[in-house]
Amino acid sequence: MHIPVMKDEILKMMEEMPSPPARILDTTFGRGGHTRAFLDGWPEAQVVALDQDQAALDHGQEHFKAELESGRLQLIHSNFVHLDKALPNQQFDVVFSDLGVSSPQLDDAERGFSFYHDGPLDMRMDQSQGLTAADIVNEWSANELADLFFQLGEVRRPQKVVARILEAREEKPFERTRELSILIERAEGWRKKGHHPATKYFLALRLKVNRELDVIEEALPVFMNALNHEGRLIVLTFHSLEDRIVKWGMKNRTELGRLVNKKVIPPTREEQLKNPRSRSAKLRVFERLKEEQ
Ligand SMILES: C[S@@+](CC[C@H](N)C(=O)[O-])C[C@H]1O[C@@H](n2cnc3c(N)ncnc32)[C@H](O)[C@@H]1O
Repeated sequence: MHIPVMKDEILKMMEEMPSPPARILDTTFGRGGHTRAFLDGWPEAQVVALDQDQAALDHGQEHFKAELESGRLQLIHSNFVHLDKALPNQQFDVVFSDLGVSSPQLDDAERGFSFYHDGPLDMRMDQSQGLTAADIVNEWSANELADLFFQLGEVRRPQKVVARILEAREEKPFERTRELSILIERAEGWRKKGHHPATKYFLALRLKVNRELDVIEEALPVFMNALNHEGRLIVLTFHSLEDRIVKWGMKNRTELGRLVNKKVIPPTREEQLKNPRSRSAKLRVFERLKEEQ
């Protein structure tokens, strides 16, 4: 069963608002766990949900039939960075983002995110867009690959793996996730028990393929402008680079609003034990001013 991360803390942030939210935007629908909690928590509210993955929306069409038919829920295929184009001139009381990939995307070998389960080296959340992980691994220069693994994967010395990738692709281009993860395993060896050596490399590729950090940075001001006065932007991040962007994006907009909590909110220990995916979660909330200053 899908468990929405930090659901209680998120609902509390919405309950504290001066009036119940009437229009809610979930920018990362996924399996709809948070959307379901919003619909149940505020039966009068209208929820609009976006996802760039058509498979997520297809699943939603099946599981939210009643809400879609009654018009309480609207599902839209779009990257949230294009919010202005997907929903021009619309304002919301709550804008919510649960960033990154979903468990079904990670678990489905055919999507190419997994270094354990063999699949095509793809990693696109939106399969209608162009660049795949295989394109990067097969076409980028040694310097470009090393920079990518260093900057987005935070791998301190990626040169050995990069050299092996260049040798291997001379023989045959990479097509499958296991070809790459086995190569990394052989080049790096296991340093930390339970932590596959390919983790950071795969993270870097995934972030690049989906432009994950760029789209958050571009989308934050769009989300804030789409908030009604006293509306709240609620964002869940899952790693430090993402969180840094959200933290500064929120802190630097004092003319528009304020951070509700100075410090980031972590999941409880109980939730971390129950749901391992929640372990690295961080919650930040921004509130738009009552009136513009
Ligand atoms: C972590 S999951 C969300 C899970 C969801 N909150 C739930 O409880 O089921 C993230 C989802 O957001 C989507 N996503 C990630 N980045 C996106 C973006 N820039 N625009 C639209 N959807 C995005 C992914 O395709 C994925 O389905």
